[in-house]
Amino acid sequence: MVFSRRKMKQILFVCIGLIFVICIYKTFVTTEPLHVPHVPELQPKLLKENRQQFDSDNDLDSRYAELERVKLKVKELELKLKSLEDRIPKKYPDVKYLNYKNRKRILITGGAGFVGSHLTDYLMMQGHEIIIVDNFFTGRKRNVEHWFGHENFELIHHDIVNPLFIEVDEIYHLASPASPPHYMYNPVKTIKTNTMGTINMLGLAKRVGAKVLIASTSEVYGDPEEHPQPETYWGHVNPIGPRACYDEGKRVSETLSYAYAKQENVKVRVARIFNTYGPRMHMNDGRVVSNFILQGLQNESIIIYGNGKQTRSFQYVSDLVDGLVALMESNYTQPVNIGNPVEHTIEEFAVIIRDLVGGKSKIRSTAAVEDDPQRRKPDITRAKKYINWEPRVPLKIGLEKTIEYFRKELDRSNHSQRNVFSPHIDNS
Ligand SMILES: NC(=O)c1ccc[n+]([C@@H]2O[C@H](COP(=O)([O-])OP(=O)(O)OC[C@H]3O[C@@H](n4cnc5c(N)ncnc54)[C@H](O)[C@@H]3O)[C@@H](O)[C@H]2O)c1
Repeated sequence: MVFSRRKMKQILFVCIGLIFVICIYKTFVTTEPLHVPHVPELQPKLLKENRQQFDSDNDLDSRYAELERVKLKVKELELKLKSLEDRIPKKYPDVKYLNYKNRKRILITGGAGFVGSHLTDYLMMQGHEIIIVDNFFTGRKRNVEHWFGHENFELIHHDIVNPLFIEVDEIYHLASPASPPHYMYNPVKTIKTNTMGTINMLGLAKRVGAKVLIASTSEVYGDPEEHPQPETYWGHVNPIGPRACYDEGKRVSETLSYAYAKQENVKVRVARIFNTYGPRMHMNDGRVVSNFILQGLQNESIIIYGNGKQTRSFQYVSDLVDGLVALMESNYTQPVNIGNPVEHTIEEFAVIIRDLVGGKSKIRSTAAVEDDPQRRKPDITRAKKYINWEPRVPLKIGLEKTIEYFRKELDRSNHSQRNVFSPHIDNS
């Protein structure tokens, strides 16, 4: 068969086209398995992984041992953490809830001291916001540590001889050393605290419109010639004696309060506090109750200064706190005696305390102290009439609680041993 030249060309074109299509098909559709291309930099990585696998198989044991060591370390740290946590009281006492209309912001100067810390407890339990200001001269953080971290509580380390600018609704002004060894330690500072400090607090009250209660003292009556002492008695004070820094300081404090009340319309309340005792009293308080308890607990002689016939009346601290709050809440603006009128001779106290402690201490007397008042007994007619207050805690019960506190304090041998006197709401 003979093809024409034209036909031959056509057949050639078709063959070339077919070969082209087959080549394209071979390029894109292949049934051969995929090979990892030989890329030089990939090779060491693959080798390393293989080696690690091999190594890990080999030191599995040592790794387990290391893991065990870490686990032990973590356990150790957990125990340490727990022992630290145990030192912080976890649960706060159950405070009342007050809404914003009834909740007050209350400043307590000297709030880390004996009376101030009990007042703090009471007002915290009532649901108020408490700000304590203290320079820790005689106060201690331990007295209020159970409130640290509570949302209603704040502690400011500050000396009230310097001005203070905060916003508050009420001020309980308690900052001042209260016992003779403390206020005589630095008489000039005692006067400054009771004069400049009081001016600063009255100035603060004036600026923010707060009501202020001044903690005065039965010492404003000095060695009284009237007995019992009513608030109308002007006192019998030696202005240059060893107690004058405190007695006269408090008298000026009262004078300043009424000057601010008259001139600047500051709402003032003045509490004349008589001898008070209870847990959290300073161990070096140096007054009758703490001295006798400490001497009794340590089986030392109980020392009476003078002939022991001088009288004192002592109130338990919770009674005082009730009186201070009642006075603050009242509309009564004149000074009010807050004290227990049940009078005992110092000699009687020595016997009562020795018997309650249960020790075998001897009772001895020594020379009288200069300017020591012979008789002290509050007339509390005003308190009964205007603030509906009178003390409730019997001497024996109050002394038992105080002795228990002092006993624990004496037994304490390190810082982590707590002696927390927990607050509670007394509904009796
Ligand atoms: N406890 C009593 O028997 C008694 C009797 C009469 C009057 N008072 C008065 O009651 C108040 C409280 O007495 P207390 O027995 O709780 O005494 P306290 O010594 O235990 O407390 C006084 C507190 O005031 C602080 N303070 C002293 N100077 C300060 C200053 N310049 N700035 C800031 N803080 C300062 C102290 O560190 C302490 O915390 C005092 O004003 C005291 O005169 C107490």
